[in-house]
Order: sequence, then structure tokens, then C-alpha cells
Amino acid sequence: MTSITPRTLVSLLLAGLMVQTATAAPKGNTGANTKTENDGWTYVEVGARNTENWRIWLEKDGCPASFWHDVPLYPDESNKQIINFIVEIPRLTNGKIETSRDEPFNPIFHDTRKGAPRFVENVWPHVSYPFLYGSVPQTWESPNFEHPFTGFEGDNDPIDLFDIGQDPGFVGQIKQVKVLGGLALNDGNETDWKLIGIDIKDPLAPLLNTYQDVEKYRPGVIQAYRDWFTYYKLARGDEGLIPIVGEWYQDVPFIQDVLERGHGYWHDLIEGKVDANEINYNQTTTMSAEKSLVNACDNNKRKAFGVPKKSKVEIAAKVPERYSQWFFVEDGQIIPNNGTDV
Ligand SMILES: *[C@@H]1O[C@H](CO)[C@@H](O)[C@H](O)[C@H]1NC(C)=O
Ligand SMILES: *[C@@H]1O[C@H](CO)[C@@H](O)[C@H](O)[C@H]1NC(C)=O
Ligand SMILES: *[C@@H]1O[C@H](CO)[C@@H](O)[C@H](O)[C@H]1NC(C)=O
Repeated sequence: MTSITPRTLVSLLLAGLMVQTATAAPKGNTGANTKTENDGWTYVEVGARNTENWRIWLEKDGCPASFWHDVPLYPDESNKQIINFIVEIPRLTNGKIETSRDEPFNPIFHDTRKGAPRFVENVWPHVSYPFLYGSVPQTWESPNFEHPFTGFEGDNDPIDLFDIGQDPGFVGQIKQVKVLGGLALNDGNETDWKLIGIDIKDPLAPLLNTYQDVEKYRPGVIQAYRDWFTYYKLARGDEGLIPIVGEWYQDVPFIQDVLERGHGYWHDLIEGKVDANEINYNQTTTMSAEKSLVNACDNNKRKAFGVPKKSKVEIAAKVPERYSQWFFVEDGQIIPNNGTDV
């Protein structure tokens, strides 16, 4: 053991101080950067990360709100290139975290597959989610209509977005991003848009107005991210490559149209005009949508909607070993046993 000099003691104390200020309220090792506040929105987090029972609910002024239905699409209606974005998956993490469709106020949860929490494999040369990934509030990829560009119905979720900024983010964070374009994925014959955007606070944001600008300042990035979506489900074993309709990114005016259309579908949803496809669309902010407008502020109502009063965070579960390995691709297929038995 090395002796502790006054200088190392000072840096140890400073490090301790930094850790304390960087991680908010809940004590103990939760295995995640739990936050309790963001721009006036607050969070209630219950359970252990990487488990089925874990949830994060959103609140405004102490009352439950929905990540999907109550965060506005546009922070400022006069500039529609900037939209709100809900971080579900922080950069360089691999848990498939999503907004719940059918629970009141649509809390964030860990998606499952074959009865276990779902993670993404590392498909060479990619590691986990190489960007921040999440959803665009007040939009809906409606399964009631075929999207005119793809010819496929929507996947019944909000529109997805990936943020290429440097801030790793945290689950449930609400960011403002500049939209730069988007990819039209055909995931199992469903339309699943993946918009590309950048956090407006990122130092690079003022220089970028389209996905083409990304190539100028970060050569290779848009190609690598497109490839990530093509391959990311390959190692699961039951799905092949994911086709991209039109092969490449669509530009900003095109994506603004996709957003407006998705926002319109969402309006029809909360106004109760269409088949809701099992989506819980209780909301607290759009006064004109009487069918879905609720108030869950008092404790009895809150309880009736299943929203806990206080956070109770438990120690995170371990991520299975499989998700720290590499998987390698040849001719559009995963090489079995890493190619070791040839
Ligand atoms: C998608 O549609 C094609 C053509 O109809 C069909 O062959 C294929 O099985 C469908 N895939 C899925 C996942 O439904
Ligand atoms: C609101 O939530 C309650 C409780 O889950 C549910 O029964 C009801 O259908 C929801 N209403 C809407 C409009 O989603
Ligand atoms: C790769 O090799 C490791 C070590 O032998 C093994 O545990 C793992 O299952 C292999 N991965 C694949 C994709 O076959």
C-alpha cells in the first residue's frame, strides 16, 4: 500500500466532493447517474436498474405528467428545427430503455425480450448505443396509416431520435435538439423513423444545420451511425439486417414534414378520434383534448394511477456477460463462435 501524502489527501477529498455533487439525491450505489430535476421537471424512480420492475415517472410541480403526452414537441413554435427530446438511453449504455405505451403517464421502463430485460449486443466495431437515443414527445408513428414514403404502417411508438452531442445524458432527461435529418427504417414491415439531431448546447451545434454538415466536421460519423441501425439486431439471432427505405438520410424539410404528420397523428390520438392501439393517453396539459385530460395531483388520484409518491432506488442488477463481448459480421451474418471452430 502506498502512503497518503498531503497532496493525494487533497485530491481524494476533492474527488469525493465531486462525486457527491455530481450524483443527486438517492444514496448508495444505484449503478446509474440518477437525477431528480431537469428544467423544472422532476422524477420519481423506483426499483433496481436492469430489472423489469424498475420505473421512472415524470412530474411537473409535484403532479404526475407523461413523458410522451405532456412534454411539448416544440420548445418554441417559431423555430420548428428545434424540438424536445426525451433521453431513454444515455450514450455508451446498452439497456433497451423505453417509454411505456400502456401504463398511465407512460413511465420509462426496461423493455424485455423472452422474459428478460433487453440489452443490445456489441456488433464490431460498434459499442452499445454510440449516441444518446430516445423519443420525440407528442408524436406518434400511427399503425392506423401507411406512411406515404415507406408504404408501411407506423410502429405504434413516438418517433425516435439519436443525438450526436458529447453530453452522455441521463435516463429521462429532456433536451432541446436541432434536427439534422433522418433515416426511414423498415423494421419488420413497420415504419420506424430514426431522426438525427444534436443537443443545442453542444459546441458543434451552431455549425450544423443538416446531416451533410456533420460529414464536414465529423467525417465518417453519419455512415457509421447508419450502419449501426442496419446491424444492431443481427446478433439476436432471429432478425436479419434492417433495411433503410431510400438507403440514406432524408433532409431537414422532409423530416419536418414527418414530424408534423406524426404530431397530427398524436393529436388525433389524445382527442380520442382514432383507434388508440392500447396506448394509455392520459395527459395533463392539452386542455382542449377533454377525453384524455386528467388531474392526478392529489395523493388518492395519484395512487389510483399507480404513480408512487417518492423515489425508492435499489442497487442495479448486473448486465449479463454476453453484452460485454464483440460479435463479428461477415456477408451480412454473425460469424458463429467468433470464428474459433474453423
Ligand atoms: C414483410 O413483408 C414481406 C413481403 O410481404 C414478407 O415476405 C415478410 O415476411 C414480412 N416480414 C415480417 C417481419 O413481417
Ligand atoms: C387513463 O388511465 C386509466 C388507468 O390506467 C385507464 O383505465 C384509462 O383508459 C386511461 N385513459 C386514457 C384516455 O388513456
Ligand atoms: C465468443 O467466444 C467466447 C469465448 O469463447 C464465447 O463465450 C462467446 O459465446 C463467443 N461469442 C459468440 C458470438 O459466439
